[in-house]
Amino acid sequence: MGTLGSLVALHALSAAVWVGGMVFAHFCLRPALRDFEPAVRLPFVADVLGRFFRFVWGAIILLLISGYGILALRGFDAFGAYVHLMQATGIVMMLLFTHLWFAPRRRLERAIAARDWPTAARNLDQIRVIVTINMWLGTLTVLVGAGGRWL
Ligand code: HEM
Repeated sequence: MGTLGSLVALHALSAAVWVGGMVFAHFCLRPALRDFEPAVRLPFVADVLGRFFRFVWGAIILLLISGYGILALRGFDAFGAYVHLMQATGIVMMLLFTHLWFAPRRRLERAIAARDWPTAARNLDQIRVIVTINMWLGTLTVLVGAGGRWL
């Protein structure tokens, strides 16, 4: 496969894990838990998301290493402007995720430890908004990253 091929494959795999996980959380997990009581639902969702978000950190690190690795090997000039767009939306996604991790996720875990369900619900809602934005941004990023060269 060679170094370039390995980097592209790692890049696509990391994108699949991150975007796929958000699609699952948004379209499958959330609606399925709608009718559960807060005292059951909130600790469960926090646990599931806490595990997923660790994979997201791994995906971010691999996306950055592989993305800039591809550019280091081929040079920016080898690609069209779509790579700048992918980089821009990708960095916005990473900043949003970093905020999510250090602000609402941290507050959510503290609120759950204190069994403060209203605060936990409020912070989970903030996480939901950010994950929804990132899911659509991620969809756009994948379309641009994978389809850009065919434009
Ligand atoms: C933030 C820095 C990023 C850089 C520097 C970067 C760079 C690149 C480069 C150079 C390519 C190869 C383009 C081509 O062969 O036409 C690529 C492809 C791709 N990128 Fe990114 N990328 C970044 C972030 C992301 C993110 C956040 C996602 C999705 C969540 C993403 C998804 C993809 C996909 C799906 C491809 C197509 C892979 C394939 O050829 O199968 N990228 N990226």
